[in-house]
Amino acid sequence: MSKIKDTEAFSELISEKAIRKRVEELAEEINNEFSGQEVVVITVLKGAAPFAADLVRCLDFPVITEYMILQSYHLTESTGKVDLVRDMSTDLAGKNVLVIEDIVDTGTTIQYIYNHLDAKKPNKLKLCVLLDNPARRVHENVSADFVGFIIPDKFVIGYGLDYNQLYRNLPFIATLNMEVN
Ligand code: IMP
Ligand code: MG
Repeated sequence: MSKIKDTEAFSELISEKAIRKRVEELAEEINNEFSGQEVVVITVLKGAAPFAADLVRCLDFPVITEYMILQSYHLTESTGKVDLVRDMSTDLAGKNVLVIEDIVDTGTTIQYIYNHLDAKKPNKLKLCVLLDNPARRVHENVSADFVGFIIPDKFVIGYGLDYNQLYRNLPFIATLNMEVN
């Protein structure tokens, strides 16, 4: 079997094994939060797909899966504007909701998600992010309830995260080494 190796383009930051361990720990925290209750789990596509697929399989309460497609990044820069490409269809009024996102960077996206979903009047709304890059934060008023890893101020790829739509399939998280303009 061929294995994807580090190339000059990227360097491994968080291994597959470390991700697996942290996903199990996060699931335990989330299982304690929602214990026995039904939850609508909303995955923010495309970036959070691999993380959400691993995480939901560790959740032990009744789960309804939903998906939203958002876009805000162009190559390695946040555009500062969030486009809702596809909304979700389940009625969230009075429901428990968990949102799964890949990374908080400027905070624009999670603030948008929080406001958008809070307007649908859920009973409880919690945010889980795999990665947090606090150095880039612009919006501080919405924060994640569950955070996988705090990372240094680097552009990262892999395990769902992309550079120009590539590298989402890497099983680990890596920093991108190439200079991008
Ligand atoms: P924010 O809106 O600036 O917080 O950025 C969040 C969104 O930008 C995430 O949902 C990602 O899709 C994307 N993003 C932010 N930082 C990175 C990164 O380092 N690598 C890949 N995508 C990123
Ligand atoms: Mg995203």
